[in-house]
Amino acid sequence: MAVLEGEHLTKNFGGIIAVDDVSFSIERGETVGLIGPNGAGKSTLFRLISGVQEPNQGRVFLDGEDVTGLSPHEICHRGLVRTHQIVHPFENLTLLENAEVGAEFGGRDVDDAVERAHEVLEFVGLHDMAHTTPDELSVGALKRLEIARALATDPEVLLFDEVAGGLDTEETEDIVDLIGDIADTGKTVFLIDHVMRALMSVSERVFVLDNAQLIATGTPEEIQNNQRVIEAYLGEEAGGAAGAAGD
Ligand SMILES: Nc1ncnc2c1ncn2[C@@H]1O[C@H](COP(=O)(O)OP(=O)(O)O)[C@@H](O)[C@H]1O
Ligand SMILES: [Mg+2]
Repeated sequence: MAVLEGEHLTKNFGGIIAVDDVSFSIERGETVGLIGPNGAGKSTLFRLISGVQEPNQGRVFLDGEDVTGLSPHEICHRGLVRTHQIVHPFENLTLLENAEVGAEFGGRDVDDAVERAHEVLEFVGLHDMAHTTPDELSVGALKRLEIARALATDPEVLLFDEVAGGLDTEETEDIVDLIGDIADTGKTVFLIDHVMRALMSVSERVFVLDNAQLIATGTPEEIQNNQRVIEAYLGEEAGGAAGAAGD
């Protein structure tokens, strides 16, 4: 059964159409990647889904229920959380306290939140640093903290917006492994990333946004061989691969 659906989602900013009549469906437990050129509308689509912005037209369904227009907080309580492209931890709180805030945002009482905070820091590999503050963390560790805070809310569906942005190759691999671990626990993952190889390796299906429109959906292999995607986005590198596949 579909856990997340978008129906004819449209968002305008003045004269700019950022998301244009986008419809999609994601099954429970699926890992789906979202790619597209800069400015294609990827982050805006995530904001419409997570309740940060309201669509001008269209609906969002979570577990079959219409959640369009609900606040991020209400949507979080229904099991969907988004990580941010730019991370904003609470600088004066410890990692443990940061994770606790996530757990309380997700509806846990204080004692329960502490326990959950320990669990998620352990899961993302930051438990050793539970009592330090975010200013002592590397960029990669800050991304892990952002993921821990999201996990602490007990989501069913996680949206990751360029969670590997600004990371080196090794840190990117670590984060991709972590996303794989999260997917393995049965969660539904919808992620945006610029590192194509990483995204393709972790995604069961890939959606392609170009110029505000969803131009293709398919397995990573289908997407890499899709002529329209190659022209719009993947460029010569993938074009060579498609040619080799016998076009
Ligand atoms: N708050 C906003 N006000 C005006 N224009 C915006 C706003 N947010 C996004 N846009 C525009 O919408 C388009 C899609 O942006 P975005 O969703 O950030 O793309 P992506 O994440 O794919 O790079 C861009 O043209 C961007 O400039
Ligand atoms: Mg973006």
